[in-house]
Amino acid sequence: MTGRFVTVEGIEGVGKSTQLERLRARLVEGGHEVVTTREPGGTPLAERIRALVLERGEEGVPPAAELLLMFAARAVHTANRIRPALERGAWVLCDRYTDATYAYQGGGRGVGDASIAALAGLAHPGLQPDLTLLFDAPVGVALARARGRAQAADRIESETSIFFERVRAKYLEIARRDPDRVRVIDATRDTDAVEAAAWRHLAELGA
Ligand SMILES: Nc1ncnc2c1ncn2[C@@H]1O[C@H](COP(=O)(O)OP(=O)(O)O)[C@@H](O)[C@H]1O
Ligand SMILES: [Mg+2]
Repeated sequence: MTGRFVTVEGIEGVGKSTQLERLRARLVEGGHEVVTTREPGGTPLAERIRALVLERGEEGVPPAAELLLMFAARAVHTANRIRPALERGAWVLCDRYTDATYAYQGGGRGVGDASIAALAGLAHPGLQPDLTLLFDAPVGVALARARGRAQAADRIESETSIFFERVRAKYLEIARRDPDRVRVIDATRDTDAVEAAAWRHLAELGA
């Protein structure tokens, strides 16, 4: 039996964490085994890499280092948590995956798609999400929501609006290139309406 690999994407503040929790609860109610996780991170070692890549320190982090740390964390997370869960038939709901690298390190930082594709082939050969929910909202709307949260912004969350405009544009480009997998959801609506739209896509996958 193989499970379902669903990833949730979008810029800071669009509502990914909120929706992931709602979708998890509905899947569990339906009797599914559900693993919710996040990137970078998702295992003890990958969470340590997350801390390294997101901490706000004195020393600069070149785009290549950011890229490689993201994929180091992803290789660990994929091998140690995601694949085992899928192999036992669970639904894996993951807050960000390789699309985020195309969007942030690619669109945001200017790393080329070919470098990212090569690392993706190394870090998770043969594994693609079955479904990616791309929550989309204008940068101003999303960042205003993100600012309403309690936690302090990490190194990447502290980027400028112009950076997030590039990230959003790249996400939308990915969705245009791969419309069967990547479903764009208008995240400006209220939480219940966004959840209903997201759930329709999970239902198509057999939820
Ligand atoms: N549809 C929505 N409308 C208004 N506020 C929302 C909506 N979805 C989430 N929020 C709020 O916006 C903030 C950011 O949501 P969050 O789920 O943390 O976003 P993300 O995980 O994408 O950064 C939270 O305070 C959350 O309660
Ligand atoms: Mg979140």
